[in-house]
Amino acid sequence: MNDSRFSNILGEDYDLLKIVIPHHDEFQDKIGEVIKNYLSSLQTDTILAVDGGVGTGLTTTRILSADKRIKVIGIDNEEKTLNQARQILKEFGERIDLRKRDLLEAIEATPSQSVDIFASVWVIHNFQPSYRQILFSEIARVLKIGGLFVSGDNYARDNDSDHKKDLENRIREFTNFEKMGRIDLKTEWTKHCIEDEKIKITEGEQMKILRKLGFKDVSIQYRKEMEAIITGVR
Ligand SMILES: C[S@@+](CC[C@H](N)C(=O)[O-])C[C@H]1O[C@@H](n2cnc3c(N)ncnc32)[C@H](O)[C@@H]1O
Repeated sequence: MNDSRFSNILGEDYDLLKIVIPHHDEFQDKIGEVIKNYLSSLQTDTILAVDGGVGTGLTTTRILSADKRIKVIGIDNEEKTLNQARQILKEFGERIDLRKRDLLEAIEATPSQSVDIFASVWVIHNFQPSYRQILFSEIARVLKIGGLFVSGDNYARDNDSDHKKDLENRIREFTNFEKMGRIDLKTEWTKHCIEDEKIKITEGEQMKILRKLGFKDVSIQYRKEMEAIITGVR
């Protein structure tokens, strides 16, 4: 999959998104918390995590800060955001290995049962259902038995009218870009959000896929507006 949805101003000014989504930091912090809790009983010296879709590094910092034993392979196919991530993640030195590559290609090239944690935020909803289907089974292959899948994303609520309310609310939030003098970002993010509707994934669909692949303890760890965090243990 080579077409990038973040090669324009959405990638250049990606970090402004956190200003218009009030619970942005809380949502990202929760990823770190989920990982910290998961690792509290794990005795191994090193932990390998894959961050699928690094962006500017906002999720990666939470993953790396959750536990000192974690090393992250961070994958993204967009140079614009990766360049920003390289700066933000400098302080983590050799604990971070950034790779410019398509996520599915990168996971397909990863050895079976070699990864402790697959984490991803706001990435999976960008993919076509056929791409996702292969990606999820490849994630199941590369995770160690007992490994953690954690994805925070725009998972549509199963109740469609509730989802529609979330969507309207999100589009309203994008008007804050206009107040900042960035009508261009309001237009692009609104377009992006409406395009997402064509390929949306519901919370129920994500959980069903994970269970079918043999994941245990599949659950929703967080929900606010469009955002949900879904976890499962391999
Ligand atoms: C919305 S950003 C989220 C970044 C970060 N996780 C965060 O929450 O701030 C999505 C990222 O996924 C990347 N991405 C989208 N499709 C991809 C693909 N097929 N392979 C690798 N990265 C991809 C984009 O380039 C973008 O940087």
